[in-house]
Amino acid sequence: MHRMKRCKAERAVVNIGSLLTLEPGSGAGPLGIVERAALAFAGERIVYAGPEEKLRDAVELPAAGSILDADGRVALPGLVDCHTHLVFAGSRAGEFAARVSGKSYEEILAAGGGIHSTVEATRRASESELLALARRRLDRFISFGVTTVEAKSGYGLDLENELKLLRVARALRGQHPVDVVSTFLGAHTVPREYRERREAYLELLVHEVLPRVAAEKLAVSCDVFCERGAFTLEETRRILEAGLRLGLPARLHAEQLSRSGSIALAVELGALSVDHLEFIDESDARLLSGSRTTAVILPAATLFAGKQRYAPGRMLCDTGCRVAVSTDFNPGSSHTQNLPMTLTLACLGCRLTPEEAVRGATRHAAAALGLESDRGSIGPGKRADVLILDSPDWRDLLYHFGGNLAWRVFKNGQEVLVSR
Ligand code: NIG
Ligand code: FE
Repeated sequence: MHRMKRCKAERAVVNIGSLLTLEPGSGAGPLGIVERAALAFAGERIVYAGPEEKLRDAVELPAAGSILDADGRVALPGLVDCHTHLVFAGSRAGEFAARVSGKSYEEILAAGGGIHSTVEATRRASESELLALARRRLDRFISFGVTTVEAKSGYGLDLENELKLLRVARALRGQHPVDVVSTFLGAHTVPREYRERREAYLELLVHEVLPRVAAEKLAVSCDVFCERGAFTLEETRRILEAGLRLGLPARLHAEQLSRSGSIALAVELGALSVDHLEFIDESDARLLSGSRTTAVILPAATLFAGKQRYAPGRMLCDTGCRVAVSTDFNPGSSHTQNLPMTLTLACLGCRLTPEEAVRGATRHAAAALGLESDRGSIGPGKRADVLILDSPDWRDLLYHFGGNLAWRVFKNGQEVLVSR
């Protein structure tokens, strides 16, 4: 019988108890689960994902030393953290203590602390210091099974320092297996020296910083913190439209501390994502549900900023929005890299189902970055980014609250984390 030439795999994982493909068509339930599964990789791509019994017909296996026996464990896509403020210097541990004793996040920011204090420390830091700090943070991310991290600028807030942060993020790409996807967030807040000259800061962003960021290809999207005390709706439009003219899709810190009405703007501009959403309402959600824009919820920031009001994740899912979940890792409102713990919070605080939470840190998080066709799910042709849990039950990822079940992590087909 004529057979197609089988592809030669360089690596394989066998004896997977449950493979979460995140491709509902290719397995059972909303997570597309294949039981007793196997995976095979060639180069940085997946060449086989499916029942173990069909593996040998589909690919030519590598030598035994390149085959991992998962012994019934769970495999899922490497996690995608689609909203972080990865590159910064300094610590806000003192501010944390002040918040615990009653000062609000907004009060600290208005008094010149908060983001401003990180800006001060970050401006003082050299590129190599920032690089060393960020590299260690990526090590922590990978230890939790995160293989792609978005990184925003926004602690430089002038030409030289915004470019510095984005160059650090670019340099990380050659130095660390985790993929870093850069977003320009020069509109994080108006820096102190421009407090009485907002218009001049907007001019600087639109006419100097953004064009340089685009010309040097230092970011793939442009974000604005649209909020009282940060940027108004009109200012947000101006900055995002300038970014779009330079080929940078929009993202938004939206409806975090109050309702600004920014969802309609995001949908009008075809934004990749709107993030935070504690104050989003049902009419906003209906607009989002018919759009390409992903709703990113950040429940660790709600908790850590000392707020009671979580984003209405249940309502967003029920309205048909595509919901992603991220840590919002940053030194002020969410100082954690524990994305699995954040998924537990998305269930408890935002009422996502465990399935929706897992989808939020894989397939939907990749969509928030415009990378859905490349990663965030498992199937032939997808990037070989895979997390293997030290458990036979995928729900343990959420159930072990604040723990870490990452057992093996593959990035681009290479084993980058081996634990125990
Ligand atoms: O996503 N919302 C604004 N920015 C960050 C916090 C930044 C900071 O406090 O340093 C956030 O929560
Ligand atoms: Fe943020």
